[in-house]
Amino acid sequence: MTVKPIRKAVFPVAGLGTRFLPATKAIPKEMLPIVDRPLIQYAVDEAIEAGIEQMIFVTGRGKSTIEDHFDSAYELEHTMRSRDKDLSILDGTRLKPGNCAYVRQQEPLGLGHAIWCARDIIGDEPFAVFLPDEFMHGETGCMKQMVSAYEEKGGNLLSVLEIEKEKVSSYGVIDPGNSEGVLTEVRGLVEKPAIEDAPSNLIISGRYILQPDVMRTLENQEAGSGGEIQLTDAMAKMIGNQAFHAVTFDGNRFDCGSKAGYLEANFALAMEREDLADDVREFIKKYI
Ligand code: UTP
Repeated sequence: MTVKPIRKAVFPVAGLGTRFLPATKAIPKEMLPIVDRPLIQYAVDEAIEAGIEQMIFVTGRGKSTIEDHFDSAYELEHTMRSRDKDLSILDGTRLKPGNCAYVRQQEPLGLGHAIWCARDIIGDEPFAVFLPDEFMHGETGCMKQMVSAYEEKGGNLLSVLEIEKEKVSSYGVIDPGNSEGVLTEVRGLVEKPAIEDAPSNLIISGRYILQPDVMRTLENQEAGSGGEIQLTDAMAKMIGNQAFHAVTFDGNRFDCGSKAGYLEANFALAMEREDLADDVREFIKKYI
């Protein structure tokens, strides 16, 4: 199947991160580190691995450290060079010139609204969306797995994972159709349903490949769950007119918008690091 390639990614980072206050009063949630790299950098690395070229950040007030993170840091680099320090540690933070764009969402009106703010830069191309606080960790990145599925199926794709039914009310949930390997047809979507109304226990987990038509749907989208303009509602309206598939990610997902998920991600990644695993294993014994 010939499909338009996915060259652009949107990173909505304009949320207030209220579940992580007071840490997120002056620091964006997306800049919180997992071991020694901020969440946003893992998401950008995942996009690069999937062949994506242009990174579009939808930011808001107080988010300028994200721009600084992906910029050159003249004094730091100069000083490190003069002290013979290895600069390769900064490699992932230096995006190619012209390969990142920033747009402002003036008010946090919801994820759907944040995506819509990037409409002019997206133009008429399919694009990827990354929610950086959903940390997806696998041997092959989640978006790379999704791009492979997209090359086969085209249309729109969501990454999903199975959770306990009692927890579905905090998430976007899919109404699943036929399954074939890691792919499941999506027949419907509902944002934060009551447990008894949830069509399944498969939740959308922070990665999307979308056709540009979603921007026109978002244009007229009214506020939904939580008074926010929801991406899930706009996608739900497109089902029937466009192909929608869910991809089950082969890897681990950590919900770093929640404190327990964030701590687990730090622990899991530290245990994979040769320079840290022994120390962590040793001190953790004291606490369990
Ligand atoms: P979340 O609901 O997880 O983030 O939105 P939040 O609102 O920052 O967090 P809490 O619930 O108050 O703790 C998912 C993603 O969408 C972005 C967030 O930055 C996050 O990456 N978002 C959300 C926006 O960019 N704009 C919005 O209006 C809402």
